[in-house]
Amino acid sequence: VKLVTTHQLLAMKGRGEKISMLTAYDFSMATILDGAGIDVLLVGDSASNVMAGHETTLPITLDQMIYHASSVVRGVKRAFVVVDMPFGSYQGNSSEALRSAIRIMKESGGHGIKVEGGAEIKDSITRILTAGIPVMGHLGLTPQSIYKFGTYSVRAKEEEEAQKLMEDAMLLETLGCFALVLEKIPSALAKQVAEKLTIPVIGIGAGPDVDGQVLVVHDMLGITKEFKPRFLRRYADLGDTMHDAVQRYIQDVKSRDFPSTEEAY
Ligand code: KIV
Ligand code: NA
Repeated sequence: VKLVTTHQLLAMKGRGEKISMLTAYDFSMATILDGAGIDVLLVGDSASNVMAGHETTLPITLDQMIYHASSVVRGVKRAFVVVDMPFGSYQGNSSEALRSAIRIMKESGGHGIKVEGGAEIKDSITRILTAGIPVMGHLGLTPQSIYKFGTYSVRAKEEEEAQKLMEDAMLLETLGCFALVLEKIPSALAKQVAEKLTIPVIGIGAGPDVDGQVLVVHDMLGITKEFKPRFLRRYADLGDTMHDAVQRYIQDVKSRDFPSTEEAY
């Protein structure tokens, strides 16, 4: 199987083929998603919420991200694996950012990293790119800045914030990022950004007129249940399926139905 590369992702945008992307945090899930033909796997810092049960993405550490990413990489034969740099590992100090990115690449085997923000983290992005590490940007709703925003509501609805987002998007392309995630912004703005940029723009809650889509896999599979934003389409109810399976198992254990003689040595 041929590996997905940054060049192929760019070519996909060029020919109008939409890019499919999902999160993954572990080997078993990555094996399934890669086997199904997903283009990009994101080892998101949403692992902080989905895997660890934290309220925000802020607590997850670089070591924990590397653990998740290395597990995902071992399950992948084809997909391009992007690893989120966690909060605190790249903001404010570009040499620390480079050190963190190098640790991710060396210790996880991921193929690129993702960082949240624009002009504020320009030096960190430049430094990481200089080492030959592909960088994906992330603008709009950036969960690592949740305490600055105060809410998880739609971003860049006002002209001023929209203009800043467009400027940041152009800056990220100029710096050399290979792709950009836009999270929870108006479709019209996302469309403008995707048209303006040469690099692929991947949306989550950014409407249809971008170059690809990403969702948190546990959300789209219906494993997480309480999270129901408008942009989320559920493709399965695995939470219910798993709940029922576990109840049948409990029942069978209690009733001595399991194990049968055929299931014993
Ligand atoms: O961490 C994550 O899951 C993400 C996606 C929602 C883009 O950053
Ligand atoms: Na993230």
